[in-house]
Order: sequence, then structure tokens, then C-alpha cells
Amino acid sequence: MARTRVKELLNDAEIGKSVEVKGWVRAFRSNRFIQLNDGSCLASIQAVLEFENYEDALLKRITTGAAINVQGTLVASQGKGQSVEIAVSSIEIIGDANPDEVQKTVMQPKKHSLEFLREQAHLRFRTNTFGAVFRIRHGVSYAIHKFFNDRGFYNLHTPIITGSDAEGAGEMFHVTNFDLENIPKNEHGAIDFKEDFFGKQVNLTVSGQLEAELGALALGQVYTFGPTFRAENSNTSRHLAEFWMVEPEVAFNDLEDNMNLTEDFLKYICSYILENYREDLTFLNDREAQEQKSKPEKDRQTMTLMERLEFVINHSFERITYTKAIEILKNSKPYKKKKFKYPVEWGTDLQSEHERYLVEQEFKKPVIITDYPAAFKAFYMRQNDDGKTVAAMDVLFPGIGEIVGGSQREERLDVLKKKCADFNISEEEIWWYLDTRRFGTVPHAGFGLGFERMVMFVTGMSNIRDVIPFPRTPQNAEF
Ligand code: 4AD
Ligand code: MG
Repeated sequence: MARTRVKELLNDAEIGKSVEVKGWVRAFRSNRFIQLNDGSCLASIQAVLEFENYEDALLKRITTGAAINVQGTLVASQGKGQSVEIAVSSIEIIGDANPDEVQKTVMQPKKHSLEFLREQAHLRFRTNTFGAVFRIRHGVSYAIHKFFNDRGFYNLHTPIITGSDAEGAGEMFHVTNFDLENIPKNEHGAIDFKEDFFGKQVNLTVSGQLEAELGALALGQVYTFGPTFRAENSNTSRHLAEFWMVEPEVAFNDLEDNMNLTEDFLKYICSYILENYREDLTFLNDREAQEQKSKPEKDRQTMTLMERLEFVINHSFERITYTKAIEILKNSKPYKKKKFKYPVEWGTDLQSEHERYLVEQEFKKPVIITDYPAAFKAFYMRQNDDGKTVAAMDVLFPGIGEIVGGSQREERLDVLKKKCADFNISEEEIWWYLDTRRFGTVPHAGFGLGFERMVMFVTGMSNIRDVIPFPRTPQNAEF
């Protein structure tokens, strides 16, 4: 008999059908009721057996965490909580799980802290919460590909090993196959990268943007969606050393087009998950609502998870310039009462306390801030006519902060060359990037969405370590 997945059984159940289901036991009650979960959906199916028909030795092996195969007939359920169940005719134990050992793990059916679950990231998939999170993570990934495919974008796989530091922040992980005990040196005593695998110094990419631009300037509109790596030593709930980024790049788009694309894109993802992941989303929604009760009034969410998704879909994002943002902040209560820790001054970067004020207090919705001072943005951003600011945009989300960073790109060769000089980037190093400005250069724009930050937003999880299967953070690369 072919195995049927629980999701199919629960969705279009055909009463009276013979079925076979393989999965893991979540619970076994009264020697009679097995809750069987196979990961296809949040719900388990109930398998009911007549214990008189089975040997004690077999019944003892039906324990939480064990893998089993049940065959039987799908029948209407007598009990509450499910419409159908399996009347079992035979059971086979596929893999045992020692109950004494299971006791010590997150599989033990009780409430565990997220910290404890993180220590057992290899087993946390088996909990309802992480099953829901990782099914939704898949949904977000699929929605992204669908959005771009439906709009005629091409997915471009940009390299993971690269010689460039696109963002210029110098937060790179080096890649080498040198014998670290015996690194070749040149006559000046410096490391001789000519001897290294690639004959030059390379690192893990911090962004696929520069290569995506090359693609966009021929294919018209592309997106890259891959892992990116940043050796920034920030141990926060929003930073990972290895995270996934989605970076579309569109020829002939200006900053305005770029903002419109971002807004459509983020709304699409929220709608897609609301429509296609109801069960998991409802679970996470209720889980969050429960958690809120134990929090002090002031730290509680004003909207539920689902309301927040609906809200983003139904409201246009606020669009303001950096200069305007500074003005608003200077007139704000926390500024006047000296509540901000960091200075608010035209020319200094916004800190997360400022971003949070704008999003959560002032506008109470997603905000796009544009036209930042050139000094603290990347070299490739297009210089505005004022000579001081660049055509940059950051999208800020409630509870998350910066979720997207993007810009219109500098397409004028002379201006770009000057920017390279200002940023100490040698022209020989990125001759290929400059070449695209020599041959049929056009205005173009793009952005980068932090994939995990988006997954945080749609699942309501408040720590980024809980939306990626195996987080990499400072001092932590287990599993
Ligand atoms: O703002 P960033 O640095 O922009 C870029 O890398 C551009 N090349 C994008 C582009 O225009 N194509 O990063 C983009 C987004 C941020 O807004 C944030 O959501 C996320 O990537 N991000 C991180 N997510 C998790 N952990 C980190 N350490 C992150 N750093 C950035
Ligand atoms: Mg940024």
C-alpha cells in the first residue's frame, strides 16, 4: 500500500478508505489513542487501536518520538478535536525512542523555553512551534520565487566566494586553503595570496548585488537569493553571521520604481502566507497571544500576528526622506526629554531607537526612509543633485527595524570612479563593474531583503535564531 501523508488525509478524507501512514508518535494515551505526526502539517492524525489485539511488548514500544507505520481504515472520528481517524489494523515499529532518553529532550510534550529548544536545534523541528515556523519559512521562499517569476524576473545564482566587499563594511570571512600553520609570505613579510587557491585574497560574499547588476544590465530584471555572510560581532536578536538575502535588480528603474516594487513584494509575501499557511499561522498567532498575557502591559503587541499581516497588506507604507526623519525626531517627545541614547543630528546614521520611534510611535506602520547622507551609505548608491545625499532607501518594519536596504545605483562612469576613489576601492579591482558603465549604461535600481527578518515578521518569532534551522552567531556554529 502506498503511504499517504497526514495533510492529504485531513484535507480530502475519503471515509472507508484503506490507508497507510508513517510518522512519529507525539503521544499515546490509554493504550489506545496514538497521535501520529508526519510533518506534512501541524495537525497529527489520531490512530485508534484495539490493544487486546497486540502484544504488550509491541505496545510498550509505541512511545513519544518513536517512528511507526500504521495501516488501517479511515473512519469518522467519535472523539472531539478531529473529523477523521484511523481504525488501526496493523502496526509496525520503524524506529524506537527510549522514553528515559526522550524525557531529557525537547520532544517531551511540555512547554520548553526557546533557549532550550535552540540547544536542541536538531530535535526542535519535532515541536509544533518549529514545525510551523519551518513550513512557513518554506512558504516565504516559494512566494519570493513565485512573485519574481510571475513578473518576468530571472533568478541569477551569484557567487558565494568573491574577491569584493560590496558593502564596504569590511565584515568578511576569509576563504583560503592555506596550511594555517605555515602561511606563505612574500619578500616584504606579508601573506602571499598569489600562492593561495585562487591566486588572490577572497572571502564569503556579503551581498550578491554587484554581480546581480551585471546580469540586470543584459537580462533586464534579475534576482539573486542566496546565503550571505557577515563577520559583524553583533549578538542581537536580529543579526546572524550567515543569513539569506533576496536581491532583485532592475534595469531602467529609478528610486520611485524601486520603492513600488519593494512595497508590492513585501505585501505579496504577507498575502501568500495568510492564504496558504492558515493552520500554521493560526497556531503561531495563538501561541503569541498566550505569551503576551505574561508580559507587562507596555511590552505587549497592540495587534495580533494576523492583524499585523493584514495591516501591512492594507496600508501604504509611509515614505519620507532622511532629512524629514531627522526633523521629526528633533520634534519628538523622547528627543526633547533626552530619552534617546544616541544623538539626532543631520549626517549621523539613525540608530534602532530612532527607527523604532518613527515606525512604532510616529507612523505606526512600515516606513521607507530615502535619500540618506552619502557618507554612511555604500559606494554604489546614486549621488543626488544636492551633492550630499544618495538615492538610498531603507524599509523599516514594526518590531523588526530595517528589513530592506536598497538604492538606485550610480550609472555615471565619472561619478562612480570618483566614488571609488573616495571609498578607497581600486579601479583595477572592480574593472568589470565599471565596464557596465562604459557599455550602454542605464539607470537601474535594486534592493536586498533580509530573508530571516521577513520570516520573523510573518511568524511573529522575536529572535532571528528561531527562524533559521541552524543559526550561526558569534561563538556558535553547532550542528
Ligand atoms: O542593507 P544591506 O546591507 O544591503 C545590501 O547588502 C545591499 N547590497 C542590498 C541591495 O541593494 N541589493 O542588507 C540588506 C538586508 C538588511 O536590510 C537586513 O534586512 C538584512 O539584509 N541583513 C541582515 N539580516 C540578518 N543578519 C544580518 N547580520 C544582516 N545584515 C543585513
Ligand atoms: Mg542596510
